Amino acid sequence: MTEMETMAWFHACSVEDVPSNGGVCVKYGEEQIALYHFTRRNEWYATQNECPHRRQMALSRGMIGSQNDVPKVACPFHKKTFSLVTGECLNDDECSIRTYPVKIEGGHVFIGVEGIV
Ligand code: FES
Repeated sequence: MTEMETMAWFHACSVEDVPSNGGVCVKYGEEQIALYHFTRRNEWYATQNECPHRRQMALSRGMIGSQNDVPKVACPFHKKTFSLVTGECLNDDECSIRTYPVKIEGGHVFIGVEGIV
């Protein structure tokens, strides 16, 4: 079994619920997850919605873009940027964010949540 097959997936929304090159916040229990459709790259990403800098629930409203071909999101508050792939902060900070796998099936978006308690 691969890692992807052991993942628990939950249905987040329909593909059309997420704006092009933007994000939405979806809830999984008490968790807020930011889901992004990076249309320019034809890619989907999910991260924690809380920015670790000042603990604002804001990343789903952040600006997405690329830095050295790394897809990233910039927090709308103080513009700290995070890799959408690894979650590391790209501003040389020690804070990082959690990332989640995303898959699309039949026009629906699923987020892998293994390990969320
Ligand atoms: S709260 Fe996100 S950068 Fe400050």
